[in-house]
Amino acid sequence: MNYDWHVVFNLYLVVSLTFYFHFFVMCWIFWYTGSWDTVSVLLHGLQRLEYRWYDSAWLYVTWKDWSHLERAVGKVSELTSRFDQERDVSSYTCWIAHTRWATHGGVTESNTHPHTSNDWKRIIVHNGIIENYSKLKKELIAKWYTFSSETDTEVIANLLQEHATWSFVETVKEVQSRIRWAYAVLILHVDSPNEMVALRLWSPLLFAYNDTNEYFFSSDAQALAWYAKKLIYLEDGDLLHFHTTDAWKDYTIFHNGEVTKRDSETFDHEAMEASKWDFKHFMLKEIYEQPNVLSRVCKWRVSFEDFTLHADAFHGMHQEDYKKIVTVACGTSNYVWRLWTYWIQQLAKIEAQNEIASEYENKPFFVDPRKLHIFVSQSGETADTLSVLKMLQEQWGKSFGVVNVVWSSIARLTDSWFFARAGTEIGVASTKAFTSQSLCMLLLALFLWKRRGMRLSLYQKIMRELEHLPAYIETVLDQSDQIRWIAMQLMQYKDFFFLGRGYQVPIAYESSLKFKEITYLHSEAYPAGELKHWPLALIDENVPTIFILPHDEMYEANISSMQEIKARKWKICVIWDRSVEWSDRQISIPETCDELYPFLTVVAGQLLAYHLADLLENDIDKPRNLAKSVTVK
Ligand code: F6R
Repeated sequence: MNYDWHVVFNLYLVVSLTFYFHFFVMCWIFWYTGSWDTVSVLLHGLQRLEYRWYDSAWLYVTWKDWSHLERAVGKVSELTSRFDQERDVSSYTCWIAHTRWATHGGVTESNTHPHTSNDWKRIIVHNGIIENYSKLKKELIAKWYTFSSETDTEVIANLLQEHATWSFVETVKEVQSRIRWAYAVLILHVDSPNEMVALRLWSPLLFAYNDTNEYFFSSDAQALAWYAKKLIYLEDGDLLHFHTTDAWKDYTIFHNGEVTKRDSETFDHEAMEASKWDFKHFMLKEIYEQPNVLSRVCKWRVSFEDFTLHADAFHGMHQEDYKKIVTVACGTSNYVWRLWTYWIQQLAKIEAQNEIASEYENKPFFVDPRKLHIFVSQSGETADTLSVLKMLQEQWGKSFGVVNVVWSSIARLTDSWFFARAGTEIGVASTKAFTSQSLCMLLLALFLWKRRGMRLSLYQKIMRELEHLPAYIETVLDQSDQIRWIAMQLMQYKDFFFLGRGYQVPIAYESSLKFKEITYLHSEAYPAGELKHWPLALIDENVPTIFILPHDEMYEANISSMQEIKARKWKICVIWDRSVEWSDRQISIPETCDELYPFLTVVAGQLLAYHLADLLENDIDKPRNLAKSVTVK
């Protein structure tokens, strides 16, 4: 195979299929040609599409006359880790990556794409189903064609060989007239490496490009985020012929055989982020985005190969050796800070004070050159938080922000700030902003700890686990059905308690907040150690307790508290990492280090609140009386 052409031709395809009723097919394609770091584009694209169902994944790489195929039946991460080792990006000339949701033929390596014609000249990736494939296959077998997979896709490849003419495009046109829907297909010919043909009928396919000569195909705009500027939505019956020379890249669109023109649209990243995709609610979509979001938070800030924190990403944190840090925020953002006070005091041994913005301004506060105020806000516009920041500035106090909106007031007014990178959060109940801001804060704590001389073994352990955090969160997300089932059992109750110890106290508060915010049911959160001081007076058989119980340092103490509840035969639901014989219901989470458990337990709490609210048929994305950005005091 010779792909020795000027333009690096990278092909990346992601396919997943889901069928609703008879012919509703959801499919994916992402194709890229350009000069960027292909591996990064690939990995990023794959990660952004992972929320889709799939059961196998592969990458196909050609390197001049050498070719290599990696397949993995399972997670994309298993596949990408194989390619991540010692890659020399510049040497790859063609990439195809693919995730497959099995339709025709089981989850086997032989059924994964790409499929080739018998003469190995045509390489095909396909989304959808060829309705008349079995008739076509019989005709081809009668002509001595053989098939190495059970897929309908292989039929297209062999039809192309059967109807081959002098022109690649004309051959594809001929085959297009013979296959019946639904499909989005990309076709390469090894003897004609400077061109590529895409077909669309009933399976979505977008063509996109930008000013820097990068071109893409995707059946999901999500994969194009941050890359493409212009979009063309291909229509049913379209054939797009993409061709390159050393000097230029160009494309021609045919519709029903005739050259046609399609207007391009400017890619609206905000609007794209604002789409629910196939999730019932924005909140659920945003809960599921968290593995991606957390990877993004670490990008360019952490190197997992050598556990480095890139110092230039932490500007504003270098200069001073702060003796005290005050955190100021409201609502869910306030629980980020409560969590941080545990990290920063345990690890960096810096005194931390947590303040609710609306109250902090009601008492005199003291400014000191070695005291830093950190302001956390998803919107960056919350009036209470902003008001404290302005007061601090009048006194020349030092400020730092952790904000999710780049052009927001808090980002502009603080001395320096950290971008939370959660992406647009639409659901009023904050989920991904909580985890992304928390991770930003953990990175800041690690950075300050390192500067003050960290305990190397613990630091390395946290970093090692941090690398796996997105995968751990996926494991929690995988339990969504089980959590919904637990929510069904909880529907009959009106009052709840959330309990935890240590790092899990802020999570108990945050889970209880989320619960109240969208279920409208009463819940209380307390440190488990407080139980005997008064909450026991309220707990009875009508008040289920959600005990947040990871296998951390607080475990033994928590078990004693649980027994106090259980001895009274009250209901307990636990969120934890091992099975426990005392609980009535369990949401299990993977084992990790104490410092990272909050990220897992909070996601379980979000799902529990979400499912209960959904079962109660509440307006989840717009809870009553609440707004996303509170810009008034
Ligand atoms: C609850 C929630 C609110 C916000 C609070 C602060 O789910 O989202 O409690 O956390 O209004 O908003 P930001 O973070 O924009 O300052």
